[in-house]
Amino acid sequence: MIENNVDTAFFHSWFRKYVKGFYSEDPRIQENIRLKEEHTLRVCKEILQLGKALDLNKNALRLAETIALFHDIGRFEQFKTYGTFNDRVSENHATLGLKVLEETNVLSRLTKTQRSITYKAICYHNVRKLPDPASENPDCLLYSKLLRDADKLDIWLVVTTYYGKRHKHRNPALELELPDTPEYSLCFVEDILNNRVSNSHELKTFNDMKLLQLGWIFDINFTQTFIQIQQRQIIEKIIADLPDTEDIRKIQNHLKEYLNERIFEKNK
Ligand SMILES: [Fe+2]
Repeated sequence: MIENNVDTAFFHSWFRKYVKGFYSEDPRIQENIRLKEEHTLRVCKEILQLGKALDLNKNALRLAETIALFHDIGRFEQFKTYGTFNDRVSENHATLGLKVLEETNVLSRLTKTQRSITYKAICYHNVRKLPDPASENPDCLLYSKLLRDADKLDIWLVVTTYYGKRHKHRNPALELELPDTPEYSLCFVEDILNNRVSNSHELKTFNDMKLLQLGWIFDINFTQTFIQIQQRQIIEKIIADLPDTEDIRKIQNHLKEYLNERIFEKNK
């Protein structure tokens, strides 16, 4: 049972102040710090919506919001130190975030259990696969799943908005500095057609990144998230920015069918 002691107002004000410390007069840095700040605040909203749809109680919702608020806290230090959001050429932003939380002791007002759930959910938010249910505490897995779904919903919003306006303003940090060539790697196509989440280590082009993001659909945990994906037309928007080939048309049909099945399952 999560106690009613999560002071989200305090955490939000701490977060605002912390992020302000990274504001910069350099427009490139400022753009990316703001990007992650705004992303974080939207993930808080997404997780609350998701939690409410799942009928979580108020205390559980507060803890979920706190987890969302701190999930990317390592991003600010990451961009300041390395000038990139690419974990592979810098360091794991989740681990970096845990260091920030420990050093600042901002979570000291949580109980030990709440803190442990928060740390683990952050630690698991960017791994390819969550641990097996037999080897991890159910509460920890629930919050990790909520965070992963909420985070993906907002990343999809960020990238689809970006693809639409990219011709006017480029941000290489959002493209993980990958080359924008017409090619894509077939392993990403194969993964999608076999309902597998791809490995980010295989990324070679910007198109690969879009395919990787499409494949996240196989890592979604809640029906409510599938409904949001459909309503927001995530698949269509990402596909629109990929080359018009037989492979891509196949992927589109496959993903649409998968989405319908997942949504239909609930209504059976
Ligand atoms: Fe995130």
